[in-house]
Amino acid sequence: MSILYEQITQACTTIKMHARVTPRIGLILGSGLAALADELTQAAVIPYASIPGFHEPKVPGHRGELALGLMAGQPVAVLRGRFHFYEGYSMAEVTFPVRVLKALGCQTLIVTNAAGGLHADWQVGDIMRITDHIFLPGLMGMHPLIGPNDDRLGPRFPAMLNAYQNDLVPCAHAAAASTGVRLRSGVYAMLAGPSFETAAEMRMLRAMGADAVGMSTAPEVVVARHAGMRVLGFSLITNLALPDGSPANHAEVLEAGEKAKPRFAAMLRQVLAQVVN
Ligand code: HPA
Repeated sequence: MSILYEQITQACTTIKMHARVTPRIGLILGSGLAALADELTQAAVIPYASIPGFHEPKVPGHRGELALGLMAGQPVAVLRGRFHFYEGYSMAEVTFPVRVLKALGCQTLIVTNAAGGLHADWQVGDIMRITDHIFLPGLMGMHPLIGPNDDRLGPRFPAMLNAYQNDLVPCAHAAAASTGVRLRSGVYAMLAGPSFETAAEMRMLRAMGADAVGMSTAPEVVVARHAGMRVLGFSLITNLALPDGSPANHAEVLEAGEKAKPRFAAMLRQVLAQVVN
């Protein structure tokens, strides 16, 4: 048995001792968004510190707990807080929770993050459905699938074309319409961070075709697709990343998350209500 496979099995065993549902949908809630799934029924909340292979979160605004239960009638496993590459975790550590979600029974992954909008006519508080990503650290060799491949977890060379194209896309837009959210669509570029972008980097990202920029999500989605999961992603635009704009800061990221919570949560509940497992 590979070490990774063994670690996944151990984490699952611990989680299953507490869980009262078998989750079919995994949710990752990013910066300031952990409270989106506070109202679970039949809930079991497990601190990351007590799950083998998980770590205590270090970033303010990120909680560190896995919550399992029912949301909008669906059995879900919610990662409240994630591990970031910029915190010093390896790409394997960053993506380990996604492996665990899959092993618990999740066939679908819904990812959320905070991101800087690269368009001058976008607004703080906008929500963007991620149509595709540019995984800059991955392209440079910081990729979660480098190393031996365990064929039980996925293929050696997984396709990433259409990673975000599936039957959940119309559900997302219908959910947005029914909850009064103007849902934007666009390409998410992931940078390692933790520094925010220079003006030249922002121009480069725009020229590459990115619409929003952040420091997470792409590694998790790559691993989810490797594992054969269906993926839906949303970015909350917490600030505008514009060459002639004002500098970004973490406080505004958290504040935007706080303000958008009711709208974002209502939309997510509607999405979940429509998911066919
Ligand atoms: N850049 C990178 N990551 C971010 C930003 C940003 O402007 N906003 C929130 N996360």
